[in-house]
Amino acid sequence: MLETVELKNFKGHQCTRLNLDQSRLHALVGQNSAGKTSILQGLHYLTRLVDAPFKSVFGYHNSPDFITTIGQNKGSVIVNGFWGYRSPRKWQAGYQFEKNRESLQWWPTGFWKTDQDSGEITNWSDSLSIAESPIPQALRFAVYLKLVATNLARADYSEAVTPRVEFDGSGLAPTLDYLRDEAPDQFQNLQEMLQKVVPSVQRIGIRRAKVQVNRQRLIEVNGQSIPYEERQEIAGQEVVLDMHTGERIPAHAISEGTILTLGLLTVLMNPRKPNLVLLDDIEQGLHPKAQRELMTVFKEIIKDNQNLQIIFSTHSPYIVDELTTSQVHVLSNRQSGFTNCKRLDEHPDVEWAQQTLTTGEFWDAEGEDWIMGAING
Ligand SMILES: Nc1ncnc2c1ncn2[C@@H]1O[C@H](COP(=O)(O)OP(=O)(O)O)[C@@H](O)[C@H]1O
Ligand SMILES: [Mg+2]
Repeated sequence: MLETVELKNFKGHQCTRLNLDQSRLHALVGQNSAGKTSILQGLHYLTRLVDAPFKSVFGYHNSPDFITTIGQNKGSVIVNGFWGYRSPRKWQAGYQFEKNRESLQWWPTGFWKTDQDSGEITNWSDSLSIAESPIPQALRFAVYLKLVATNLARADYSEAVTPRVEFDGSGLAPTLDYLRDEAPDQFQNLQEMLQKVVPSVQRIGIRRAKVQVNRQRLIEVNGQSIPYEERQEIAGQEVVLDMHTGERIPAHAISEGTILTLGLLTVLMNPRKPNLVLLDDIEQGLHPKAQRELMTVFKEIIKDNQNLQIIFSTHSPYIVDELTTSQVHVLSNRQSGFTNCKRLDEHPDVEWAQQTLTTGEFWDAEGEDWIMGAING
């Protein structure tokens, strides 16, 4: 479980600290480019570093040149957390980049600390997999999602033994097909959760569908192998929903909000249960009532999964309404260009507000500008 997240010179964050409450459900709110996605990314890189070396996590557009605040030579992300609920063990893990002034090369450092041990890695080929337990357990089963409705709706196939929904939403139909066969209780549960958010759904179905794939082939011409791409049609699967009206709706015609909810629930209720779920912009296409229901469902899933923590970004007061003020982290970079962050329960008028307003109304009325006052004063 994560307790604090600290970003220093990470993208638009000069020094941002999140203090997460015990609820395991946390929202990031704030205007466009306030730094919400960056926090999720900073965390996502740390979780990836548990299995992959620096050079593969921080390559290309994730390189220190792009993720360290422009003009700075040093940036870091540090997370404190605990693991286990009966006798929780505290841990810390993080990474840092520093630019050598002469060679202009970036030097990575990964570090961790438990009650018994601590360690460091300083090589582009190293990962945090050697960190002391419970750090790998706490961070390994993390997912970062920005689901796209068209990808979720697309017919798809999977060669994996255990298919899963990918970052962008592809793989939904094979994953559901797998769940239906291998974990029918879970599938049933998922269907009930979906019905709560979208009551008109009666049954989730998966049917065979044609999938177009591009395969690399080799052709021999005069003794030379020449690669070429061949477009093939193979049998995959697609999602269909049976509705209470008796209609059967194919995936491409399912409403955006419904398919996104189905995608989210499939990730959360997968038998390979994630511990940390990072979700960007969750309310896409959802009716206010469905947004509220989605939060109810999230709370139920969290209650059933003691190790699960969900951090998400949102712009919706309806979603914020379903949360307490300590679950809402308000971000602003309006005045300085750098992100400042406060929890809504740090607002000076929170006690008054809690008696008269819902959390969403309070946020809507106060916006983000109070944060600077709270910091300066
Ligand atoms: N290397 C960097 N240095 C400074 N600022 C950066 C860097 N990379 C991105 N940013 C800034 O971070 C902001 C992006 O924040 P983001 O997390 O996407 O916001 P949100 O998700 O809240 O809309 C943009 O204003 C962008 O200019
Ligand atoms: Mg964003």
